[in-house]
Amino acid sequence: MDIALIGFGKVSYNLVRLIKSQNINFVTSTQNRSQNTIDLINKSDVSVYDSFSQAIENSDIIISANSPSQAIETAEKYGNTSALYLDLNNISPKTANEINNVVENFVDGAIIGKIDSNNPVLYLSGENAKELLFLNEFLNVKVISNRIGDASTLKLLRSIYTKSLSVLLIESYDLAQSLGLEDEFFDVLSLTEGDDFKQKSLSRINNTLKSSKRKSEELEEILQYFNSDELKMVKTALDKLKQF
Ligand SMILES: NC(=O)c1ccc[n+]([C@@H]2O[C@H](COP(=O)([O-])OP(=O)(O)OC[C@H]3O[C@@H](n4cnc5c(N)ncnc54)[C@H](OP(=O)(O)O)[C@@H]3O)[C@@H](O)[C@H]2O)c1
Repeated sequence: MDIALIGFGKVSYNLVRLIKSQNINFVTSTQNRSQNTIDLINKSDVSVYDSFSQAIENSDIIISANSPSQAIETAEKYGNTSALYLDLNNISPKTANEINNVVENFVDGAIIGKIDSNNPVLYLSGENAKELLFLNEFLNVKVISNRIGDASTLKLLRSIYTKSLSVLLIESYDLAQSLGLEDEFFDVLSLTEGDDFKQKSLSRINNTLKSSKRKSEELEEILQYFNSDELKMVKTALDKLKQF
C-alpha cells in the first residue's frame, strides 16, 4: 500500500517513524519545499517524487499535514482521486466540511496531543474513517462517528478546556510565586491532581507562554466558530493570553 504525504514536517516525520510495515510504502515530494523539509525527508524511509502530483498518482491514501492555511488549497489540488484523503491539519469543522465538498473519499482527522509523544492519539470521523482502523497497529486510532466535522469539533472542544485552564494555571502560579508559596502550591494540588501535576503544569505554562500568539489565534477562531455568548471563560482567557 502507498501512502502519500503532502507536507513533511513533524507530523509526517513521526508518522513514518511510527508506522513501520513491509506492506506500507510512504511517498512524498520535495517540490517547492524548504531545506528543513528536504533534510527531514532525507532522514526518513520514504520514496521521493519530483512533484506531489506524481507522488499521489498510485497512492491508496493521501495524508494532508502541512498547515491549516494550506488545507483547502491542498485538497483542491490533490483530493480529486479514488484514494482515501485524510486531513490532519488543525482546521475548523467548517473547513473540514469545505474540504469534504471537493474531496471524494474524505476522512476528518485530529491529532490529540503531540505527534512526537510516545503514544499519539488520532481521532477520525466520516463515512470512510473505518478504513483507517488498520493504523491501530501503530497508533492509537479512534473512529468517533460517520460525520465529517466531528473530529475537528472535538479538537476545538478540547482546546477550549486546555487553553483556558493553562491561563488559569499561569494566573494562580504567579500569585503563589509572589507569596513565596510556589512549591506548596504544587504540593497541595498534586494531592488531588496526581503526582506528575507539577511537571505537567510547568511544561504547560512554558508552552503557553512560548506560543501565546498562536494560542490566542486559536481561541479567537474558536470564539468565531461557536459564536456563543456563553464562552465567557474563553473570552477572559483570550484577553489574558494577549497580554503575555
Ligand atoms: N505537530 C503536532 O503535534 C500537531 C498536532 C496536531 C495537528 N498538527 C497539524 O498538522 C499540520 C502539520 O504540522 P507539523 O507540526 O508537521 O508542521 P511543520 O513541522 O511546520 O511542517 C509543515 C510541513 O508542511 C510543508 N508545507 C507547507 N505548505 C505546503 C504546501 N502547500 N504543500 C506541501 N507541503 C507544504 C512544510 O514545508 P516547508 O518547510 O517547505 O514550508 C513542512 O514540510 C499542521 O496543520 C498542524 O496544525 C500538528
